[in-house]
Amino acid sequence: MATTPANSRGTWNTKLGFILAAAGSAVGLGNIWRFPTVMAENGGAAFLFIYALLVFVIGYPVMVAELSIGRKTRKNPVGAFKALSSNKIFTLAGFWCVICGVAILSFYVVIAGWTISYFFEQIFYYFGMFSLAEWVSNIDNGWLNVGVALLFMGITISVILGGISQGIEKAVRTLMPMLVVIIVILIVYVMFQPGAGAGLREYLVPDFSAINMDLILAAMGQAFFSLSLGMGALITYGSYLNRKENIPEAAAYVTGFDVGIAFLAGMLIMPTIYMAQAEGLVIYDDAGSLVAGPALIFQVLPELFHEMGGIIGLIFGGTFFLLLTIAALTSSISLLEVPTSYIIDEHNVSRKKAAILVGGVISLISVFIAFDTSLIDDIDFIFSVIGLPLGGFIICIFLAYIWKTENAKLELEQGFKNLDNHWFWPVWKVFIKFICPALIALILGTTIYGIF
Ligand code: TRP
Repeated sequence: MATTPANSRGTWNTKLGFILAAAGSAVGLGNIWRFPTVMAENGGAAFLFIYALLVFVIGYPVMVAELSIGRKTRKNPVGAFKALSSNKIFTLAGFWCVICGVAILSFYVVIAGWTISYFFEQIFYYFGMFSLAEWVSNIDNGWLNVGVALLFMGITISVILGGISQGIEKAVRTLMPMLVVIIVILIVYVMFQPGAGAGLREYLVPDFSAINMDLILAAMGQAFFSLSLGMGALITYGSYLNRKENIPEAAAYVTGFDVGIAFLAGMLIMPTIYMAQAEGLVIYDDAGSLVAGPALIFQVLPELFHEMGGIIGLIFGGTFFLLLTIAALTSSISLLEVPTSYIIDEHNVSRKKAAILVGGVISLISVFIAFDTSLIDDIDFIFSVIGLPLGGFIICIFLAYIWKTENAKLELEQGFKNLDNHWFWPVWKVFIKFICPALIALILGTTIYGIF
């Protein structure tokens, strides 16, 4: 189906298509830009350890919850909450999901724009056009940021306009595997470079004394961000999912894939940071904290490619930033799909009008961020680190106590025949009812208590 008229929802064509789309939503700047940056700011391996733990203890169960709510109701988050409960609080919660999506996408497009800028930087550098290379990679240039962010948003909107199976599914099928291959090749190259060993040690040998409440909060935010949880992106993707599919199994693939890519990205970026440092690039300030902030990988990676030099540097650098743009695209479409499907479902607007309207509003917000990139950290903290786990908490409570786990079971059983006799069921039930909401509340509560 080429376009999806209002009220007739598309579906994923194949199981692999869905898994790739959900994995495409998960794998993005969160893995390659956000994960290494947050990890470098939080003591390397200790962060990796807590992050991985929270992905399995909180992330995976919440992912199953989102997908089952979405598939049951076949709606966007606002519509889904409305369909299963008349309680207005949950309608508000649905709005909160939509707002988080809008806010996250508004800075996401700016960073994704940088991946486009650096793709061109690599080309200009190779051809010896150094001043052009420098100009296009100046991430403090507001108008340039606006230009590339809008370009990226335009591409995102055009994929969304294609609808579900023709647009989103087709785009991710070929692109995801390519990304994995190139990252692996780059890791092998980096491992042979001077300084890489120290970075690898920092990445893999945990210093457990570095674990504190800030680190745990950051790791929880990263888990939600990276798995695309807490704002109904997977409620929405689940709404296009065939009832024959096994949700816990699909979610396990997506989670595994996402963590795998984040782990690989860390294997690439941490040694590269140390390599770049060995060459005199200033990464940490005197106090030992990261100076580079959101621009970290955009400072060290181009260094790596220039270091490779020549046509090899161009091929790796160009392909890497191109694939990073694409990985960002398969994520940004899921962020845009949430508010878009909300407008389509709840206000009976055509897909085309809805996507252009929502994309336009988000583009406007992103102009402010393009001119003041220091806003990224604040918006990210409010909407990713606090907002997404809050959304996740509400989703757990909603599923467990409003919709009820027994009803979720009926939905899950459609694609998971022996669920009743499988260990998954009792374990997941306990996690969704008690462990996940309690842990999220504990971590968020301690933080909020600490702020005031
Ligand atoms: N997970 C994506 C990444 O890692 C970003 C993303 C896409 C996202 N959809 C989301 C984050 C929904 C939070 C919620 O880059």
